[in-house]
Amino acid sequence: MCSAVSLLLLLLVGGLGLHVWLYGLPTSVAQLAAQLELHRLEGIGLVPEHCSSDCRVQLVESIPVGLYPSSSSPGPTIADSWLRLLDKAKSSVHIAAFYFTLRDSDVQSDNPSDSQGRKVFERLKKLESRGVKLQVAVNAPQTSKQDTAELSAAEGAQVREVNLSAVTGGIVHTKLWVVDQKHFYLGSANMDWRSLSQVQQVGLSVEDCSCLAQDAFRIFGVYWAVGGSQSGSLPPFWPARLSALSSADKPLDLNFNGVPAQVYLSSAPPSISARGRSDDLSTILSVIDDARRFIHISVMDYLPLSQYTEPLQFWPAIDSRLRAAACTRGVQVRLMVSCWEHSPASMFIFLQSLLVLSRPPLQCNIDVKIFTVPSTEEQMKIPFARVNHAKYMVTDRVLYIGTSNWSQNYFTHTAGVGLVVNQTGSAVKQGQQTLQSQAERLFLRDWDSDYTSQLRVDDLDVCPHRRGFAHR
Ligand SMILES: *[C@@H]1O[C@H](CO)[C@@H](O)[C@H](O)[C@H]1NC(C)=O
Ligand SMILES: *[C@@H]1O[C@H](CO)[C@@H](O)[C@H](O)[C@H]1NC(C)=O
Ligand SMILES: *[C@@H]1O[C@H](CO)[C@@H](O)[C@H](O)[C@H]1NC(C)=O
Repeated sequence: MCSAVSLLLLLLVGGLGLHVWLYGLPTSVAQLAAQLELHRLEGIGLVPEHCSSDCRVQLVESIPVGLYPSSSSPGPTIADSWLRLLDKAKSSVHIAAFYFTLRDSDVQSDNPSDSQGRKVFERLKKLESRGVKLQVAVNAPQTSKQDTAELSAAEGAQVREVNLSAVTGGIVHTKLWVVDQKHFYLGSANMDWRSLSQVQQVGLSVEDCSCLAQDAFRIFGVYWAVGGSQSGSLPPFWPARLSALSSADKPLDLNFNGVPAQVYLSSAPPSISARGRSDDLSTILSVIDDARRFIHISVMDYLPLSQYTEPLQFWPAIDSRLRAAACTRGVQVRLMVSCWEHSPASMFIFLQSLLVLSRPPLQCNIDVKIFTVPSTEEQMKIPFARVNHAKYMVTDRVLYIGTSNWSQNYFTHTAGVGLVVNQTGSAVKQGQQTLQSQAERLFLRDWDSDYTSQLRVDDLDVCPHRRGFAHR
């Protein structure tokens, strides 16, 4: 009798413990009720499955048509990596995207490279007939619904529009693919034909890596949940099935092309990060702080300002860390930003204020260059193209790949993701290389190319307009 009661008690305490473990300590009756509801819906089976950690990884790029014409061995392209991932898909494809315009190149270009977007779209359409489920979480409102409407109409893809304006005041700027919860892609390229042939982009394609892909899927899960909520508000808490599987505190121990790597994902803004998820801004700051010899940054826009929120605020978070790195720790800081007709003019003034620190007697080790993609007459007619859109940072220790411009709203309102690959101190055998060293080469190719120009403290009109190939 007595043992039966204690057994019952043990079960109760055990059940409660498991509940708290899975869903967190409830802070209100309403939350407990919501948790119980979820508990019931989800049942058991939350134990993470065995996952694969011997991953194959490719740093992938889009190079605008006509750039680096003499490059003998162009690296793997983002378009190829997307097509490859789609070919590999056996059960599911999950895509989080800012917008979809994979196909409208027909009216705007006659260059064959511009049809890659259409190819990706056709491949997406075929998934259903191969028994592969396609789920898309796309920012709302969509400026063009053509692609997503066609995907969901005939082909049975599930599309959820994610309206963050009421939730965070931002947009979904993420570009993330998860395939079979085993492979994934993350990077700067939008689901736009231009992203594959007319805009410079950098991303990471990862295969046979379910440990990390399952985690990426959890970030997708948050968008999916927001997109599915009728109330247009955030749930009182994020369920455990969306909690982070990797973080700055607990990076995953993986092999990337045979080289040991500590890896974790980050996301922004904090309000839509589930439990344990590393914040994207904190991640960037910690990578800056971690650097010992150099920090190379390639980012489209860099602004120590809140851009889209009223009132305008100064936002020195990243800027002051870079100053500290360059001026107090002697770390070499190289910052490469983009110039096109939509560049905010104030960006260059802020950058000059950073650059002035390199003058004597301070002589902080800081340098800024401006990347401009030249265009032919024809290419100039393509709207929102011919620009370096990559967003990554490589230090002497790690690689960070992100989706965000470096200005406040991208970290406080807009949904974005990042990935840190840390192979510091890993043994690298012959024929192997770290992602850090690959990214460093990529950065230096651009930095030393004819497409960059040195920013000077006294320059006035540094980014007047687009440049033709002839004038560079
Ligand atoms: C998004 O949410 C806001 C605020 O709730 C609403 O005003 C707007 O109409 C919504 N937009 C779309 C496309 O659903
Ligand atoms: C990279 O790994 C090293 C060794 O484990 C660690 O000391 C360092 O903090 C890590 N850096 C980052 C930015 O995570
Ligand atoms: C940031 O990036 C987007 C595209 O990713 C671009 O259209 C926008 O103008 C950029 N700049 C800022 C400051 O938002």
